[in-house]
Amino acid sequence: MIPGVRRPPDLLPFVTVDRRTRTPLYRQIYDGYREAIVGGRLRPGQRLPSTRALAAELGISRIPVLGAFEQLLAEGYFESRVGAGTFVARSLPANLFDAGHREAVSDQRTRRGRRVLPRNPGVRLRAPEPWLQGWGAFRVSQPAVERFPFAAWSRLLARHCRNPRAALLHYGDPMGHRPFREAVAAYLRTARGVRGEARQVMVVSGSQQALAITARVLLEPGDRVWVEEPGYGGARDALMMAGARLVPVPVDHEGLEVAAGVAGGGKARAAYVTPSHQYPLGVTMSASRRLQLLAWARRSGSWIIEDDYDSEYRYQSLPVAALQGLDHDGRVVYIGTFSKVLFPALRLGYLVVPPDLVDRFAAVR
Ligand SMILES: Cc1ncc(COP(=O)(O)O)c(C=O)c1O
Repeated sequence: MIPGVRRPPDLLPFVTVDRRTRTPLYRQIYDGYREAIVGGRLRPGQRLPSTRALAAELGISRIPVLGAFEQLLAEGYFESRVGAGTFVARSLPANLFDAGHREAVSDQRTRRGRRVLPRNPGVRLRAPEPWLQGWGAFRVSQPAVERFPFAAWSRLLARHCRNPRAALLHYGDPMGHRPFREAVAAYLRTARGVRGEARQVMVVSGSQQALAITARVLLEPGDRVWVEEPGYGGARDALMMAGARLVPVPVDHEGLEVAAGVAGGGKARAAYVTPSHQYPLGVTMSASRRLQLLAWARRSGSWIIEDDYDSEYRYQSLPVAALQGLDHDGRVVYIGTFSKVLFPALRLGYLVVPPDLVDRFAAVR
């Protein structure tokens, strides 16, 4: 901080300048702000520093700063309000954050041309489809958060947070808080027919982390993995990030068509399925398909990743027990989440892993 320059803490510059490069200073400032806006680090409506404060902060004259601001105002990235200052425009072009811009990102270069690890070309670099953005009617994957019992929730939070034991605040068991794992295991045994003990339960930040960890433990780059077609993009992304080669297997009214997967030939290291409530078609996998899938996994020495993300919601019939409960060979990694029964921002989920994999999963933490 330059002595004598007052700078409210929320007005930190998002730009740096490098006098050694040949890029003019105004261009560096312009690029820095544009990147920050397109990359989402500066949000619509966010206040910007005054040109005077920014020039002083960067240790340069005000002229290039004025030049950059003028350009950003002219292009609609900034807006100025009389007497209030300059802000990131509230009405940025809607497509700024979506497909066009993101698809411009090459595999190994960021938007600024900097090298990063190559991403698997199939992983989505674009914004989610319109029907997955925001919330409201017809938006998939959203629980009724307005019905959430906030009074009971806040009472419980207050009770447990007022004087927490020190042990709760330190690093604990890499698999998660033991009493919580016991509660999850007991619930899953009774409500979901899952076989397993608390030691097999791993607490994670939602199914997405469960999938990432599972892929890391079970897969090697290049391994083939069956995925449901149509299926869940979040799972596809997690698997591809681990270098898996996805093998789409069709889904019909009985769930994954195991015979079609087998007929496709080639060994697959794993199959990812949503047997209780197929995403997005909503079918429940029939008993015979479950048995076929388990028999395939046993025969070919493959894993089954069971994503049981919302089976608590069944309106017309009794819940169908988890596929994991039928497995006698320790071939199923079971994934559950609190995103639907509580709320997704909680980022809380769990895995139930075969007993001989507990150490492998714990090691990934
Ligand atoms: C198939 C599927 N799995 C898992 C989830 C939940 O993911 P998370 O626990 O990461 O919120 C969803 C959310 O919509 C889903 O559709």
